[in-house]
Amino acid sequence: MQKKEQLYEGKAKKVFATDDPNIVIVDYKDDATAFNGVKKGTISGKGIINNQMTNHLMRKLEEAGVPTHFVEELSERETAVKKVSIVPLEVIIRNISAGSFAKRYGVEEGIVFDEPTIEFSYKNDDLGDPLINDYHAIALKLATKEEIELIKKYAFAVNDFLKKTLLECGITLVDFKLEFGKLSDGTIVLADEISPDTCRFWDVKTGEKLDKDRFRRDLGNVEGAYQEMARRLLGK
Ligand code: TMP
Repeated sequence: MQKKEQLYEGKAKKVFATDDPNIVIVDYKDDATAFNGVKKGTISGKGIINNQMTNHLMRKLEEAGVPTHFVEELSERETAVKKVSIVPLEVIIRNISAGSFAKRYGVEEGIVFDEPTIEFSYKNDDLGDPLINDYHAIALKLATKEEIELIKKYAFAVNDFLKKTLLECGITLVDFKLEFGKLSDGTIVLADEISPDTCRFWDVKTGEKLDKDRFRRDLGNVEGAYQEMARRLLGK
């Protein structure tokens, strides 16, 4: 597969065209941002860990019946994926109160929910990714009703799989964000990444945060947290 021109540069990844119009290459960076790009930094080695962790989990999710954009890992930081148009919704599942949920509703972090919750943010940096409900997303034609139902079904299936897989590694899955894409034939697939950038991982025994909250909140040992997650999940 031939890597061609850069199509896009996001906060954490670059996307390149290939000689196949249906395949693009994502290239994971060590750049980290928070609060809609206001806080900037570097997490050394993050791109490698996020690439490998995402691919490991997407391979397993495919086996579990969730279609993904994953095609082939090409190098430490590069992966071939199916070309999609991203559905402009951030899909957030929560098992335990934390982050913006705790802040918005004035509750402490760490309340374990009886059932997981789901919410959507409209993926729009200029607007600061505002919270949006299904009806508004449909009204704005961000997705159809059927697509949203499918996305919800897949998102809860991802939660069931991830929660179980992580627990086996001594990690509590607090919450996470997913993005979905549409193939040229309209098929909805899981896209983007599943990594410490996009999930909250707490050590089961100690409650230690092993994710990007260490960067967002200046907790220190950011690289160590990413490395520990790679060790637990990938054995490296
Ligand atoms: P929140 O509590 O800040 O809304 O975050 C919920 C989850 O979504 C958390 O696991 C981190 C992830 N997330 C992203 O992946 N990207 C983002 O831009 C934000 C704000 C959160």
